[in-house]
Amino acid sequence: MGALAASSHEFNRFLMLYKFAIDEITTKINILREEFALAHDYNPIEHVVARLKSPASIVDKAHRRSCDLTFDAVRESIHDIAGVRVTCSFVTDVYTLFEMFSSQDDVTIIEVEDYIATPKPNGYQSLHATVQVPVFLSSGAEHVLVEMQFRTIAMDFWASLEHKIYYKYDREVPEALLRGLSDAAEQADQLDTTMEWLH
Ligand code: GTP
Ligand code: MG
Repeated sequence: MGALAASSHEFNRFLMLYKFAIDEITTKINILREEFALAHDYNPIEHVVARLKSPASIVDKAHRRSCDLTFDAVRESIHDIAGVRVTCSFVTDVYTLFEMFSSQDDVTIIEVEDYIATPKPNGYQSLHATVQVPVFLSSGAEHVLVEMQFRTIAMDFWASLEHKIYYKYDREVPEALLRGLSDAAEQADQLDTTMEWLH
């Protein structure tokens, strides 16, 4: 396997696999969404977004991790080249959907980090899973890792603002804003509980 920088053609082929893995997962989620809506007259999914890490961020992350710039090393150590985020209405939907998705025969769960059960110190909540799906090419099947995040609308609202603040202050967020974010995370959590109860 050649070095990342050596051939942009090979790099494109490498990234294409991750793009196909995103397509596979997006299709799976859309099928669950439609089928669930038909069977239960209820749609548990608010929205789905997918992103492919840019070559520059892949190289950056490889440097941060002291990972060799070879395709094999990058594939081994960077698990979020492909990312899919699924936003649900309620916390129970997050777990139901994750259960339905992860029990599919061709989905292998590599790692689960439940930041809903155990939020991060800053208040961040989401269910993270590194999953592996097969992508069928002319040369045969390739198994590709995708980082998935499942969260509620309230968690998503909080995370997107926290992310903007974090970058606006270049990771040195003033104490008052950190406290504000922590309060907001608590309120988002309460909102999720109340919405679930109302539902
Ligand atoms: P990276 O993959 O390098 O980010 O490190 P990691 O594997 O230790 O990260 P983790 O699994 O904790 O988080 C992966 C992704 O979740 C991030 O890229 C973000 O999209 C999201 N995330 C994690 N923590 C936070 C947070 O505190 N705030 C926000 N807004 N997003 C977060
Ligand atoms: Mg990660």
